[in-house]
Amino acid sequence: MSRAPELAERLLFREAVTLTERAYAPYSGFAVGAVVVGPSGRSHHGVNVENASYPAGLCAERGALAAMVAFGERRLCYVAVAASGGRDCLPCGLCLQALAEFGDPEVVASVGGEVRVVRLSDLLTAPFAGAGAPVEGAAPERPPACGPAGRAGR
Ligand code: THU
Repeated sequence: MSRAPELAERLLFREAVTLTERAYAPYSGFAVGAVVVGPSGRSHHGVNVENASYPAGLCAERGALAAMVAFGERRLCYVAVAASGGRDCLPCGLCLQALAEFGDPEVVASVGGEVRVVRLSDLLTAPFAGAGAPVEGAAPERPPACGPAGRAGR
């Protein structure tokens, strides 16, 4: 279900680790950084942003996702997520559903103290697909695909 990261994936994870320094997590002390990458290869960054009204807080992954969409990309190839202190952190259920809207990326994260790569669809096997068809022209772009065989078209 998971595999060891390739060099580029390790670098992406390091980028997420660095981002944890910008997280705003005064309530949990659990600082998270996330990097998402679409077909352009550009990194889009997010950190968790907590709030005195706890439910108003935002996870790092959805922050990064919003940055990607605001940039003009609607397709996910990679998601790297890291927590401060080397702690394990896979995307929460809410973030998995949010990410699944834009493809089936590889997720690079610390699992059991090791950096591993796992496909989103292995973490969320049955995402909610919607109550109806998306409005024409509003759905996520399908092409361009994410890369070489094995990852293309996802
Ligand atoms: N958090 C994330 O940013 N991403 C996740 O996938 C899990 C949890 C944040 C939310 C909250 O600010 C803190 O981590 C503790 O739950």
